Amino acid sequence: MIPKINTLSGYLYEYQKSVTNPEAFWENIAQSFYWRKKWDKVLEWDFVNLDVKWFVNGKLNITENIFEKNLFIFGDKPAIVWEPNNPSEPGVTLTYRQLYEKVCQFANVLVQNGVKKGDRVCIYMPMVPEAAVAMLACARIGAVHSVVFAGFSANSLADRINDAEVRVVLTSDGNFRGPKSIPVKAVVDEALESCPLVDRVIVLKRTSMAVTMKPGRDVWWHDAVRGVPADNKATEMDAEDNLFVLYTSGSTGKPKGVVHTTGGYMVYTAYTFANVFQYDSDDVYFCTADVGWVTGHSYIVYGPLLNGATVVMFEGVPNYPGVDRFWDIIEKHKVTHFYTAPTALRSLMGYGTEPIERHDLRSLKVLGSVGEPINEEAWQWYYTHVGKGNCPIVDTWWQTETGGIMVSPIAGVTPTKPAYATLPLPGVQLMIVDNEGNELKGNNVEGNLCIKFPWPGMLRTTYGDHQRCINTYFATYKGLYFTGDGVKRDADGYYRILGRVDDVINVSGHRLGTAEVENAINSHPLVLESAVVGFPHDVKGQGIYAYVVLDAASKTHDPEKIKDSLLAAVTKVIGPIAKPDKIQVVSGLPKTRSGKIMRRILRKIAEGDATSLGDTSTLLDPGVVQEIIGGALVRVKA
Ligand code: PRX
Repeated sequence: MIPKINTLSGYLYEYQKSVTNPEAFWENIAQSFYWRKKWDKVLEWDFVNLDVKWFVNGKLNITENIFEKNLFIFGDKPAIVWEPNNPSEPGVTLTYRQLYEKVCQFANVLVQNGVKKGDRVCIYMPMVPEAAVAMLACARIGAVHSVVFAGFSANSLADRINDAEVRVVLTSDGNFRGPKSIPVKAVVDEALESCPLVDRVIVLKRTSMAVTMKPGRDVWWHDAVRGVPADNKATEMDAEDNLFVLYTSGSTGKPKGVVHTTGGYMVYTAYTFANVFQYDSDDVYFCTADVGWVTGHSYIVYGPLLNGATVVMFEGVPNYPGVDRFWDIIEKHKVTHFYTAPTALRSLMGYGTEPIERHDLRSLKVLGSVGEPINEEAWQWYYTHVGKGNCPIVDTWWQTETGGIMVSPIAGVTPTKPAYATLPLPGVQLMIVDNEGNELKGNNVEGNLCIKFPWPGMLRTTYGDHQRCINTYFATYKGLYFTGDGVKRDADGYYRILGRVDDVINVSGHRLGTAEVENAINSHPLVLESAVVGFPHDVKGQGIYAYVVLDAASKTHDPEKIKDSLLAAVTKVIGPIAKPDKIQVVSGLPKTRSGKIMRRILRKIAEGDATSLGDTSTLLDPGVVQEIIGGALVRVKA
């Protein structure tokens, strides 16, 4: 059993222990798992060259810790309760034993298709149980999954496939999303035109839409599994063998493949799930994330399943067929734990409380928030109307790179404060620094959030480019992991995340690099250059504001058509999530004499705060700024 904290003094005690002797603390947690061979040493680390190893020489398979370790106790318990996009379609419930058999069978399919330990497998699938089966089947045989959110464009998918040197892709014919059927296989086909290494695509039939199957390369999932045995002996993995790669945006143009390894990630996701959510054996946990993001990895698949939890997995969207869909699912499945993003809450708040009141939500015990800062108004609405004042909110701060939750209340244990992620979990040693890297000690301080000691769930490298990982995370403040987030520690020592301090924006809980969006805009033939910044958005948290300089040839084009084609360019290069909300055509960008774009100024203008632009003395051409503020050509997406 994973040790669980259940009082505030217990938390303080565990936290103290975890800082005084981190190795002993994590060793004790790790003892709750099944290891084929125990570790020789708990931790080796170096934050300068980034070399971190947890549970050195430990041998295990993470799926044995989900299945074999527990089947005897809860083999017949529902593991995944799948709720389809359309509520009139029957759902699917897979018990732990049924899920185990599907995982073993698909593991055998992967082996038959030549996948070996260490090979990367790309998963580009809708939110169906087979997506989880695919991930776990990879883990079973030691293949490294790279799940790509199925809303990304063919270009983005191809970049990720090529970067991870993937040979096998798992996908579906299509995807149901609200009233729409979205082609998925067609996107894969387009991507694979530039992925010479891929020689096998396994296609799940979901929508039955017409697809082209390339002979010799593409096979149907149902054909591939037919007659394949449902037993598979798990492959022995080293604690530090790669479990998965997950691409995420940073401040440079190209997304990075964040690499997580097996032993530490297992211990960390399972421990944080058990403690933050205070999951009990009969509870029903519903996380609205997509498996294409880290929340889906750690808190739909690995964390909950390692704890023997019953997980509701939802294929659809919050407003289909009605804006009460989440509440309907909670009532239908008697959900006890509900974990979602502030964006979803803010969009549902717009419909008032009537859609909630139509449903019996008395099963709820714990509410969670993730992905972006939750504003106080959304927090209060969540607490009062969804939780009826009875459910603690766990505002969980973490990142793709951290693998699991880092700062969060422990449900029912840590006193909460609206909009605060509150306190670090045991084992998490935070440090706030100023821009020069000096530690800001004491309370009532605000600065850059760093972490000074390793935790088991942390990233180990970025795929294929270790130096890039060091430069991105460990070079800004020597010897520290820099999160890229600004933070405040208040008078009570509570942490409030203020948002990104780098060139990353968080749109509806989705992380995007401004450089990435600029590259997409710049791919348009009429664009000379562009600058992208975030601006406060009532529902999305941040919206995307693009300043665009067009070629003289654009004069002969209809401005509306140019705008539409710019949006189309972004959709093609990244996907619809990266479409700018506002596009302003400008004749030039504010630059320093050395040619650097002064984003600070553009951010202020986008925020509607042009009165306090700060020091503009280094600007090459101050006239440009006045013209932008005059802003005749702001166009807002419908
Ligand atoms: O800025 C923080 C924000 O999301 C970033 C991480 O994004 P990603 O790697 O996509 O992972 C999202 C899901 C864990 C962080 O750097 N963020 C995440 N959770 C919170 C948050 N900001 C404020 N409060 C949170 N609870």
